[in-house]
Amino acid sequence: MEKVIIVTGASSGIGLTVSKYLADQGHHVYGISRSKTHEKNVRSIQADVTNFDQMIEAYQEIYDIEGRIDVLINNAGIGISGSIEDTLTEDVLDLFHVNFVGVFHSTKVVLPFMREGKHGKIINISSVASVLSIPFQSFYSSSKAAINAFSNALANEVEPFGIDVCVIMPGDIKTSFTKNRRKNEIINPNYENRIDKSVAVMEKDEQNGMDPEVLAKVIGKLIKKKKMPLYKTIGFKYKIFVCLEKLLPRGFTNQVVGKIYGFKKGKK
Ligand SMILES: NC(=O)c1ccc[n+]([C@@H]2O[C@H](COP(=O)([O-])OP(=O)(O)OC[C@H]3O[C@@H](n4cnc5c(N)ncnc54)[C@H](OP(=O)(O)O)[C@@H]3O)[C@@H](O)[C@H]2O)c1
Repeated sequence: MEKVIIVTGASSGIGLTVSKYLADQGHHVYGISRSKTHEKNVRSIQADVTNFDQMIEAYQEIYDIEGRIDVLINNAGIGISGSIEDTLTEDVLDLFHVNFVGVFHSTKVVLPFMREGKHGKIINISSVASVLSIPFQSFYSSSKAAINAFSNALANEVEPFGIDVCVIMPGDIKTSFTKNRRKNEIINPNYENRIDKSVAVMEKDEQNGMDPEVLAKVIGKLIKKKKMPLYKTIGFKYKIFVCLEKLLPRGFTNQVVGKIYGFKKGKK
């Protein structure tokens, strides 16, 4: 049966691909983003996830048209990079507003509609970076770790209402995320060129990453399930990383991440 689905951050990358894929399958898909899109079968609503009033207006409009909301995919997100000591508070707040408060707003607004219908699925797009915290992307990793903690609690709060929660942790996916990442412009000589080198590794991984269609197919299957898993990692090698993170001592896995992204060797 076709479902009424909301996808936040639907104007590019993962959100756009997922929206189109689900709409092609016959679902009623509503895409939320600040910029309007004109995709066939995807109804675009302009709203900013950081603006609670806009979210209420958007979701009420969808509910008035459809009479129900079956699936919410909290996907809107941004990235910033740079060393912790050089990051501006306003950039941290912007990031947490979109990546965390935006998910809270969207969830808070949708829950009464889902409770009313006695069913619903909420899929939160986190990242492998939530469990393997990346140097010079500390705030992005922290915002995604916050999504995981939020989702764990949410799942237990709303299960009695027939509402199911899943956290998706994708590995690198080729999207405009790389281009849209806000890089800290402050040049701190104490870090030499470690930040640029680290960000370059991330960017290369992302641009050689998976096609967002991989994620769209996974979500297409998940929404058909009676019960979704609480966590789903996307990408074979990332599944191994997440599994090792659980099995090995945290200090050890953090050292390995540091070897890939920290560039500690070779410094003066
Ligand atoms: N690409 C990867 O490798 C990767 C890996 C793991 C997780 N993720 C996560 O996947 C999600 C999607 O990222 P992506 O790779 O598809 O990046 P993207 O191409 O940059 O897309 C980000 C989307 O979020 C929307 N957005 C940003 N701020 C918003 C706001 N305040 N209100 C509403 N929408 C907003 C953007 O639309 P507007 O600018 O039009 O508002 C855009 O549609 C993010 O949560 C990201 O953290 C990505």
